[in-house]
Amino acid sequence: MIIAVDGPAASGKGTIARALARHYGLPHLDTGLLYRAVAMTVQRLELDATKEADAVAACDFDDSLLADPGLRSDAVGQLASVVSAHPLVRASLFQRQKRFAHQPGGAVLDGRDIGTVIAPEADAKLFVKATPQIRARRRHSELHAHGATISYDKVLADIRARDARDSGRAAAPLVQAPDSALLDTSFLTIDESVRRAIALVEARV
Ligand code: C5P
Repeated sequence: MIIAVDGPAASGKGTIARALARHYGLPHLDTGLLYRAVAMTVQRLELDATKEADAVAACDFDDSLLADPGLRSDAVGQLASVVSAHPLVRASLFQRQKRFAHQPGGAVLDGRDIGTVIAPEADAKLFVKATPQIRARRRHSELHAHGATISYDKVLADIRARDARDSGRAAAPLVQAPDSALLDTSFLTIDESVRRAIALVEARV
């Protein structure tokens, strides 16, 4: 069984995908981490992500980087949304995601284009959303819990900028797959969101 979970930043898709993976005993891939790893490599090599497209696309990273806590920072997330607009970067990560999705027994993947590009054949597709203000509030508390001092307004502005880049790009933009189930987590607790997600998957498989 392949489960695709897509949605914008801080919508709750990662938490839901991890819970679904636990529930069904499936391996899980947070595909955002792959783009974040490319972004961090670009940062370390001091490349210009908007101009040096070929060099950015050629950025190979060591898998140990995927465990780096620095990958979760807001700055790396912003840069990830710039590098991920390059079709060559997307192409370089495509096979790895496809292979993960098609391992024996199935998998859960979360990202922006899982149900549309990586695994359009997925057995169940969820599109998770929440209002920008609620997503900003969640991200703000999370960042503060980790010691960051960024303001709510800055977090909201960053979320809006990332939404615009992820939805406006030509290569694999963030769009809801027509055959996906919509899950709005704006007014749901984590437990409620997970319960609904499981019910939606059950209705599809
Ligand atoms: O999900 P996360 O916030 O970690 O993703 C970071 C960035 O990577 C996103 O803003 C998006 O631009 C990009 N991304 C993508 N396709 C995916 C997953 C993430 O373009 N499947």
